[in-house]
Amino acid sequence: MLSIRGLHKSYGGARPRQLLRDVSLEVRRGEYVAIVGESGVGKSTLLNLIAGLDLPDGGSVALDGTELTSLDDDARTLVRRGRIGFVFQAFHLLPHLTVSQNVALPLALDGTDPAAMAERVGAMLAAVGLAAATDVYPRELSGGELQRVAIARALVHRPLLVLADEPTGNLDADTAVQILDLLREQVKANGGAGILVTHSAAAAATADRVLALTSGGLRART
Ligand SMILES: Nc1ncnc2c1ncn2[C@@H]1O[C@H](COP(=O)(O)OP(=O)(O)OP(=O)(O)O)[C@@H](O)[C@H]1O
Ligand SMILES: [Mg+2]
Repeated sequence: MLSIRGLHKSYGGARPRQLLRDVSLEVRRGEYVAIVGESGVGKSTLLNLIAGLDLPDGGSVALDGTELTSLDDDARTLVRRGRIGFVFQAFHLLPHLTVSQNVALPLALDGTDPAAMAERVGAMLAAVGLAAATDVYPRELSGGELQRVAIARALVHRPLLVLADEPTGNLDADTAVQILDLLREQVKANGGAGILVTHSAAAAATADRVLALTSGGLRART
């Protein structure tokens, strides 16, 4: 379903370096994969490339037969909106929208009718334990609450591909378990696939298989 071939990515700037070197990955439908690796090795960069938020220097990313790397910005945005749910490491919630408006965003962009939208947003917020916080603004929330809003927003439109970047970094152990269950459940229920980037061994253990990203590439963790 997701086919990544020979990705290369370097950054210039003050610390020029080759980050991703010949990274390949096949993820089948229904599969939930964890990626681990040292801080700075390029995990978030890899997720950004998979989501089409950035382009590689070489190689390709294809989602369900659509080669994202050969599309222009607008076409990649459409694919991302419709088929990808991204839990960003830094949340990226919109400060001037309430919790429920933030979560509703992917559905609103999709033209979902208001009643269906309200129902789905309510169900997602209940699933992440934030049913009581619908009308508050992000600045009134804790780090763990922001993280849960970001997760609800990433899953609300039942995306084909879920990309979660360290989604439990700000959560207590019990909440983390709940959120990891929810992520896994949604990936399996949508019949798509999921990639979980994490530093937590417990979180990685919830995936079907674990890969390690190093400067040498992406390999099954041994
Ligand atoms: N837009 C950019 N321009 C220049 N360098 C960048 C850019 N984005 C990322 N980098 C650099 O690439 C390296 C990898 O960053 P990345 O965020 O992918 O790491 P990571 O594996 O997700 O780390 P962490 O576990 O800390 O989240 C870092 O050294 C970072 O400074
Ligand atoms: Mg990162």
